[in-house]
Amino acid sequence: MYKEQYRQQFHFSPKEKWMNDPNGLVYYKGEYHLFYQYHPDSMVWGPMHWGHTVSKDLMHWEELPVALYPDELGQIFSGSAVIDRDNTSGLKTSDQEDVMVAIFTHHGEDNEKQSIAYSNDRGRTWTKYEGNPVIENPGIKDFRDPKVFWHESSGKWIMSLACGDEIQFYGSPNLLEWTFLSAFGKEYGAHGGVWECPDLIQLEVEETEEKKWVLIVSINPGGPNGGSVVQYFIGDFNGETFTCDDDKETIKWADYGRDFYAAVTWSNLSEPIWIGWMSNWQYANQVPTDPYRSVMSIPRKLKLRRENEQVKLIQTPIDLSSLYKEPTLVDEHLTVVPTKTKQMNLNELQVLVQAKVEENQASLFTLTLNGEKERLHIEFDRVKQEVRVDRTDSGNVAFSEHFPSIDRMPLSFFKDFTLIVDQSSIELFINDGSSVMTELFYPLEQTYTLEWKAMDGEITFSNVTINEIKSTWK
Ligand code: FRU
Repeated sequence: MYKEQYRQQFHFSPKEKWMNDPNGLVYYKGEYHLFYQYHPDSMVWGPMHWGHTVSKDLMHWEELPVALYPDELGQIFSGSAVIDRDNTSGLKTSDQEDVMVAIFTHHGEDNEKQSIAYSNDRGRTWTKYEGNPVIENPGIKDFRDPKVFWHESSGKWIMSLACGDEIQFYGSPNLLEWTFLSAFGKEYGAHGGVWECPDLIQLEVEETEEKKWVLIVSINPGGPNGGSVVQYFIGDFNGETFTCDDDKETIKWADYGRDFYAAVTWSNLSEPIWIGWMSNWQYANQVPTDPYRSVMSIPRKLKLRRENEQVKLIQTPIDLSSLYKEPTLVDEHLTVVPTKTKQMNLNELQVLVQAKVEENQASLFTLTLNGEKERLHIEFDRVKQEVRVDRTDSGNVAFSEHFPSIDRMPLSFFKDFTLIVDQSSIELFINDGSSVMTELFYPLEQTYTLEWKAMDGEITFSNVTINEIKSTWK
């Protein structure tokens, strides 16, 4: 049971030391594997290993020994894992188990190249492939983060790879020999920083038969509110090239908060789910936690929705209801009026709040996690059509000049929200997952209320539920 100050109670963080990106996400025989960038000797980023944890439900995690160690080819940077069911690689040695293959970047002193490792015992022990690297560096400085999937219609493995500020696609029949297919991105999207951690997935557009390909790309720096952020592109993939449906200038951010990065999906899963690293390279090495640093987001289900003529990525948190403490506080009908603030006491900062907007005349609605002297303030601004998360007064903010901030997200309508609070993070899902903000904060006080406030007119909610959430640490 981890109970240190700030320790999230139902999000994964390692027992100790430094963690960044989720890696090697793969589902196999009832277990969700989560590998992660890990520095087992320190609380700051350093020689990268792959840490490892598994879960049966994406909520309770069991940490396993470090899976991959740096070697003479370099550190083990980010990458993915697949189940090679047909043994295309020939690396299978067990009668009982399929071979699990990890595809990662070897970050050497001179350059970055792609390598593989394999496990024939459900990810418990790993062997690096003798023929590494499987893709040599072609003279590109940033050449990393391979994400691989089996592309059914062209009958081959496809790798998306971050190369400077574009994505390159490679194809392979066997995970060992790779051929360059195409590149995407130089003229599309945001380019304020280096592109990292791509993922290419196919998703259904809600309420249609239509399927679209989504290319996910992390970018650092260059986020709308500063630092690291995830962008995505909607289009098609024919086994060779990705073509984008949107204009070149269109930028789509998956999450406008400051603390959702390097997010990728689980492979070998029928429903698409991803998880992100809940931090930002601007201050990740300084956040005031001990003896561990960094935490993952809540896993989120993904789909697409057509909204205002655009196809948007929709994220909804996995179902956490099995973690609810009893009783659920329910308010069928909650009207917030300008003259009177509604206060709700919170036993702990471990709560899921949901509400539907019935009617909104307020120019501004604010939802505040309020201590005595500190607060985390969320503002829904109907006039400016935006949401702001203000963490400037949210407790310990002094550890980095980049941390105290007011972060903004455009919002053209407001019909519901889900707010997940876990000790030192919030994840805010608005309009059934179509607008999302993830933010860290480091409260110093013990007693908090949740304050609902309206300005210039009333706002009425229905189906307000407040659930306290149990810890998932054993
Ligand atoms: C993203 C990233 C990756 C890299 C890893 C190194 O956060 O920079 O591009 O593989 O972290 O730890």
